[in-house]
Amino acid sequence: MSASDLIVFICDIDGTLVLDDGDAQPRLAEFTAYMAGRREKFLFAVATGRSRQDTLDVLKTHQLPAPDVIIASVGTEIFFGGDRGPAADWSAHIICGWEPVKLLKLHESVPGLTLQEASKQGPFKISFYIEPEDYREELVCAALRRLHLRASVIQSHGRFLDLLPERASKGAAVRFLCKKYAAPLHRAIVCGDSGNDRDMLLSGALGVVVANHAPELDALRGRAGIFFSERIAAAGVLDGLRHHLGD
Ligand code: GLC
Ligand code: MG
Repeated sequence: MSASDLIVFICDIDGTLVLDDGDAQPRLAEFTAYMAGRREKFLFAVATGRSRQDTLDVLKTHQLPAPDVIIASVGTEIFFGGDRGPAADWSAHIICGWEPVKLLKLHESVPGLTLQEASKQGPFKISFYIEPEDYREELVCAALRRLHLRASVIQSHGRFLDLLPERASKGAAVRFLCKKYAAPLHRAIVCGDSGNDRDMLLSGALGVVVANHAPELDALRGRAGIFFSERIAAAGVLDGLRHHLGD
């Protein structure tokens, strides 16, 4: 198969492929069987807010197909399988302007933010919980400006706030991956459910948004190439793959 036949398929995990533990997982087994029959056709990547270890744990819990690539910590770390460490060329590209020590203190200047647990912080991802009653996004941007700090500000489910290097995001990681595999971006398929998926849905790839998506993605309705499924989680992902691939 030539690189241009390869379909890069990148899927978020939480809320997109799987729902919370204890909930029914609509058509997840069917998704796994679908992928098993098409391993040659796809380069399969997951793109998640989770760390690599957290990602491996959830993949195991739900017996999900083993991805070829893990895009972890909201696009800031890319792992190409086995025990290999994060892609060094990606880290070298995104590190520009990154000042984690100062960003870790942002909650001291912005009301309504609490630092997430140490295990949720990454080398290129500083994460907070949002207390919606006290929080205003514009205060984050104002504080960053005042402190002369630069970062991508990514909000998900109205509950999580991630600060990433300006060059990093799930969307930027998707573009990096397609380039690396010489696979056309316009044939790649990305699936998501919340704010941290927004820019990969707008990356130029074909998009799928599952029915249980967060309100943050409402504004993408009607955009060319982005399919809003009426089905939830894995059932919506399958629906979207079939919509874009016609199989
Ligand atoms: C995952 C991560 C968390 C992050 C959120 C949104 O839940 O564990 O740190 O804030 O995704 O990206
Ligand atoms: Mg999600």
